[in-house]
Amino acid sequence: MTVTQKLKVRSVLFVCLGNICRSPTAHAVFRQLAGEVRLPIEIDSAGTAGYHKGAGPDRRAKAAGVKRGYDFSKLAARPVVADDFEKFDLILAMDKANYSDLMSDCPPEYQHKIQLFLNFAERYPEEDEVPDPYYGGAQGFEYVLDLVEDASNGLLKQIS
Ligand code: 4NP
Repeated sequence: MTVTQKLKVRSVLFVCLGNICRSPTAHAVFRQLAGEVRLPIEIDSAGTAGYHKGAGPDRRAKAAGVKRGYDFSKLAARPVVADDFEKFDLILAMDKANYSDLMSDCPPEYQHKIQLFLNFAERYPEEDEVPDPYYGGAQGFEYVLDLVEDASNGLLKQIS
């Protein structure tokens, strides 16, 4: 994505399916990067499905993230709710299924807020989606972090 103008964004919601692997990773990484540059922004994450409501991040996601220095505290899974579409300035989907689920629930006047998170990636132009690591091995969680770090840096450049 080419930057010509900074986006006016005061709040970001990261969304995946279960809100225990990819979106909490994005939440933790972006929270840290935004904190480092003292960007005042509200950050949250949610899942298009509610089956892990109240659960903390998946232990494999947390272990991989903590190893890279990210803080995974104060994260608890929740489903996307109708108010999120009005409340958040930017709603970032991890994959195309998340994107289309969000678009089908979102009132038309807020649909412009929804984008694929990897639209902001710079080092992985061939990737559109953060792949679901849930049923795979540890390497999948490392790749999630690689993609999330790249897109978080790209997002930060566009809004700060
Ligand atoms: P996430 O990963 O969407 O990145 O949180 C998943 C977590 C749980 C399930 C699928 C994906 N699940 O089927 O329970």
